[in-house]
Order: sequence, then structure tokens, then C-alpha cells
Amino acid sequence: MTKPLRLGIAGLGTVGAGVVKIVQTHADLMTSRTGRTVTISAVSARSKSRDRGVDLTAYDWEDDPVTLATRDDVDVFVELMGGEDGPAKAATEAAIAAGKDVVTANKAMLAIHGQELAEAAEAQGACLRFEAAVAGGIPAIKALTESLAGNEITRVMGVMNGTCNYILTRMQDAGLDYQTVFGEAEALGYLEADPTLDVGGIDAGHKLALLAAIAYGTQVDFGAMAIEGIERISIEDIEQAADMGYRIKLLGVAQMTGRGLETRMSPCLVPATSPLGQLENATNMIVLEGDSVGQIVLRGAGAGEGPTASAVLSDVLDLARGIRVSTFGRPAGELVAARSAVSTAPAPFYLRFALVDKPGALAKIATVLGDAGISIDRMRQYGHEDTTAPVLIVTHKTTRTALDEALAAMDGTGVLAGAPVAIRIEEV
Ligand code: HSE
Repeated sequence: MTKPLRLGIAGLGTVGAGVVKIVQTHADLMTSRTGRTVTISAVSARSKSRDRGVDLTAYDWEDDPVTLATRDDVDVFVELMGGEDGPAKAATEAAIAAGKDVVTANKAMLAIHGQELAEAAEAQGACLRFEAAVAGGIPAIKALTESLAGNEITRVMGVMNGTCNYILTRMQDAGLDYQTVFGEAEALGYLEADPTLDVGGIDAGHKLALLAAIAYGTQVDFGAMAIEGIERISIEDIEQAADMGYRIKLLGVAQMTGRGLETRMSPCLVPATSPLGQLENATNMIVLEGDSVGQIVLRGAGAGEGPTASAVLSDVLDLARGIRVSTFGRPAGELVAARSAVSTAPAPFYLRFALVDKPGALAKIATVLGDAGISIDRMRQYGHEDTTAPVLIVTHKTTRTALDEALAAMDGTGVLAGAPVAIRIEEV
């Protein structure tokens, strides 16, 4: 019988405890599937005494994750502590330096330090894998890295933050404003300790940066991404968009354009009838497009104990099977620095204005758009009782640059009674 694959697990929160449970309950299943027994040598977490609903008595305890990561009886260091720096990075580096394979769920650490960690792993002949870092239980990394390896990837899209999708769908279903639903999400425990990571689009941006690196063979470059969160989405926009057959989603898009790699995470309108438009509650969806495969859609739980632990185990079991894939799907030294392009792909836009209700106001706005070469597709002025007129415009395709120039020019018209809202309509 082949030697067991011995794990050292650092971080025993929801996901860590979930991994321990799967190793305990599915031991025979995993052995029969891989031909190798998976065991746990030692664990580490902040508090030794906390009851995690899982029996840890068979495993050694280490207070220091770096010590855990370098133990002789650990083959795979499983990093589930989180945080882009600090103990997670120190222990990951120590494990790699000791020649251990590493499995991590840490999107922030990889989005910021992914290139240097991948290079370090490669130099040591170690594997660094991260299925659980992107969209929880959805096998997005494996699909992109392995299943679609024969494709040129034309676009990667997705809803990658369940909390934001919960907030947006709940606002729509209950007709509630953002602040009320944010409070509900907080009470349900959906929000990260720093909620900006969720509602500011950062958590989802980390995930998209990792997918883009695999899709386009580029060095992970979170800093180049255009990120906008959902904090400014109003119930009015959600209702108006719904009335025109759209849903608002925090959508990540990565695509290689003639001018470079475009990566953006922002609220977008998508058709209500599309798979993305129909995505409800805290569910995630990853849409991958390749020149041969066409479009594939992966949908499932993006967080939570079972789904995320399932993804951690998929990497562990690959290692048990002897499947050793480069971190970003090709040797780290061959990943090129991305030439980033800011929103070059044209799209239609949804615009909402509060106009001063006086003769010629609408004409002035229409003129500015026309002068910027932006053509109007649909327009509607809807009911109001005060002195500002709410106006919706859907444009034909234009670039974000042209639109921003037009919005800036509108400032000087004297007919805006508030800041305009501009949301991209994504063709999905
Ligand atoms: N907070 C994330 C979400 C899960 O709401 O999807 C971890 O990335």
C-alpha cells in the first residue's frame, strides 16, 4: 500500500472544521478513489480550547502555524487561516521552503502575493493549489486550469460574492433599500469581519484576479482591476432595471482585448432571463467562454463549511493521486506581466438622471450625449411629484471613456439635480 498523504491543517474555523469532518467521515471513499489514505498529523488554530464540533484528540496540536507547516510528518500544509499577510503568508512560505505542497483557500494572499508564492513553490518542486479560494464549492479553478486547457479563453465572468448577491436579490424581492438589507445580511452573519471586502467588491475582485491569471497566462494583478462595489445601488435602480427586463448583479468580467487585459468588478445590468439574471440569494455563478467549448456555466454555493471544504479536498485528493498542476496552470516563470486596459470593450449603459424640471433640460442631456457620439436606444421620464424629473436612458454601445467624458460635460449644463447613475449593461 502506498504511504498515507499526511496533512497539517492551520485554521480551524468553519472551513477547517469542515475539512477535518470530511477526512474523518470519508476516509474509505477517499482511499478507494485515490489509492492512498489521507491522514491528519497535526492541527493549529488561535484557540485550543474552543469546541468546534469535531474530535481533534487524534492529532497533535501546534500553537505556531509555521512549526506545523514544517513538521516532518506533514506532506501537505493546508492553510485555512486567511489574511493576505501575517501568519498565513509566513506559514505558507515556510511550508514551501521546506518542500511541502500547500493547499489554501486564501484568495487575498494569492491575489496579492500569488506570483512570488507560485515561483517559490516551483523552485522547490512543490505544488500550491487553491480551488477553495474562488467560488467555494464550484470547481472553477479546475475547470479553467484543466478541463478547458485546450481552449483559448475568450471571456471569464461571474457573480463571485454570495453576500452581494444576497443583498441585491433581497432588495429586489422585498422592495427594501440597501441599508435595511445590509443590516439583515449582518444579522445573518453573511458579512466578512470587514464588510467592505464584500460590498466594496474586493473579495470578488481577488477571485476574478486569480481566474484571469489562469485564463490569460498573466501574472496575477489585483491592483490593475477596476473595482466598484454595490454600496451606491438604490432600490430605485433595481426596480427600474427590473421594469426594463434586467437584474443588477455585482459582475466580474475578465477578457483579453486588442489593447490589453480588461478586468473589472462592478455592478452591471444583465438580462433577467439569463442564467446570471436568475441567480438568487447567496449563490455564485462562474461563466467561462472558450473558442472551442463555447460557453459553460457553473453554479453553486460560493461559501460555507461543506462547499468550501469540498473544494479543499479536491486539491488534496489531486495530490494523493499524484496530479501536480502548476499554480496558475502554466510554469510561474512563463506568466507574463499583463498590459491592463481600462474598459475598452464597448457596451450599452443604463443611465438615471434627476433633472431640474424646466424646459429644455432633457434636450441638453440628449445633446451632450450626441456630441460625445453616444446614441440613445431607449428613454423614459417617469412619474414624479417634486421639482426634479427622473429620467432613464439606455444607450447603444459606447465606451466607458466616452461616457465619462459626457457625464463630466453634463456638470456644466445646469440641469442636473443630483449625481447621475451609470451602470453598464453586460451582454451575457
Ligand atoms: N464573503 C464571501 C461571499 C465568501 O459572500 O461570497 C468568502 O469569499
